[in-house]
Amino acid sequence: MPGQGRANALVVVVVVVAEILLLALFVVPTDAQSLGGYCLNDNPFSGEKDCTQFADDTPKDAASSACAVGLAMPGQSGEYSESGRCPLYSTPASFGGECSRVTEQGISVKSVLALSDGGPFGDCAGIEQVCTTFIQGEFLPSPACGGSLEDAVGGEEVGGKTESGPSSNGGSEDLPDKQRRNTIAVDVETLADGFEFTEGPVWIPATGADPSLPPSTLLFSDMRADTIFAWSDERGLETFANDSLGANGKALDGEGRLVSFRHGPRDVVRGAAMESATVLADNFQGKRLNSPNDGAVSPADGSVYFSDPIWGIFIRDPQGMELDRHSVYRISPDDGEVTEVLPNTAMPNGIAFSQDGEVLFVSDTGGLAVHPNPDLAATEPPATIKAWRLDNATGGVVDPDGPLWAIEDFSDGMCVNDRGLWTTRGGMAPPKHGPPGLVLRDPKNGEEIGYIDIEDPTNVECNAEDGKIYVTAANKVVRVTLLE
Ligand SMILES: *[C@@H]1O[C@H](CO)[C@@H](O)[C@H](O)[C@H]1NC(C)=O
Ligand SMILES: *[C@@H]1O[C@H](CO)[C@@H](O)[C@H](O)[C@H]1NC(C)=O
Repeated sequence: MPGQGRANALVVVVVVVAEILLLALFVVPTDAQSLGGYCLNDNPFSGEKDCTQFADDTPKDAASSACAVGLAMPGQSGEYSESGRCPLYSTPASFGGECSRVTEQGISVKSVLALSDGGPFGDCAGIEQVCTTFIQGEFLPSPACGGSLEDAVGGEEVGGKTESGPSSNGGSEDLPDKQRRNTIAVDVETLADGFEFTEGPVWIPATGADPSLPPSTLLFSDMRADTIFAWSDERGLETFANDSLGANGKALDGEGRLVSFRHGPRDVVRGAAMESATVLADNFQGKRLNSPNDGAVSPADGSVYFSDPIWGIFIRDPQGMELDRHSVYRISPDDGEVTEVLPNTAMPNGIAFSQDGEVLFVSDTGGLAVHPNPDLAATEPPATIKAWRLDNATGGVVDPDGPLWAIEDFSDGMCVNDRGLWTTRGGMAPPKHGPPGLVLRDPKNGEEIGYIDIEDPTNVECNAEDGKIYVTAANKVVRVTLLE
């Protein structure tokens, strides 16, 4: 998934959302209402305030209502100031920049992003990534992050200081040296470039797949463009679906049909056409899923396992969370029943199976503070990849408390082939986990057995019939040819 926010450490990430009724307010804005202002809300996990700046021409009532109904965190209502600017603007050393976006209700907002001391988001590259992948906005760097953003530190300030200039914890020159050296001989080629945020690669084989899917083709999503693309050697880049409905992860089932995990309708579906696909799951015990992110089909029995974090809700519908947890689920191939496999993971993400289907691999991007379970939120679970022995009678894990192994790493998508477990380590990974790239692990113990330098990988497909590895990586898609 995109993203991976980590609201605790950082920041001041805020996505403003207004209720539908705001649309009505938009119909009759008057000059008297045009005041801009900002919205502050508590971040109960970091103890900091998050701040969102409204555009100057935002009708006061619309801004006030947007602030009242909640910001980045579902249920956290804010305090609206009808004029002035987010206090962070006047703290040049920690003001990293703005993340600008227009909400679905048409309100222009800027999340004001703070540089924090250390941590994965302690630098400008980190907060830029938070902006582009998590908030899905446009990043405008402050002077501390090498940008201009003139009005940020000038003009009317709240609380006053206006000194500017680079800060010691900003600037890409301060980034730690990243040692990036392939340990496997490979050729890496960029197949297509210029996307906003790519995800969910799946290879459609030459034969055996649903005939309405393009053969010998990679499908992948550009999440921010809500588009599914197709890439093949023969035809190059094409559009597969103009409206992806937020399809993120994708998989093929045993009969070669496409299974998609979608943020938009918050469901798991089967079928090539996004608008008419068959819904396999959209709720658990009557409550709507959060935003299915990624999943895989069991090679043992054809059941579908998927992760259900809240990234998609953040962006689209922060008030709409119905479940009180972020879990991994299974859809039975027999009766379609949805069961909970791993209750209460912190922020589950990539899913993969061992080749015999007996072991389930789950990456949990952890630490995201924004968790309805206060125990989990308070403990700030680390980002992990874990392997779970499956009980093939029930499809559940044999021991919910005891994974076969657990490795600390910040990983998004994963897949398994003859070489092992391929995991992505994205650009937001804390430096302690190692440089971003594609990491090959031993499925038996999780140990790293190979590393390939790829910038900002999000997800990986390693079961193409050509034996090559396809990686979605931020704004591009790359193909890795193994030379050994
Ligand atoms: C996507 O939209 C374009 C422009 O309207 C259209 O030409 C194209 O056929 C559409 N592609 C698909 C796969 O629907
Ligand atoms: C579980 O799988 C193993 C290995 O494939 C098999 O030997 C065993 O009979 C299965 N058990 C059940 C209850 O299906």
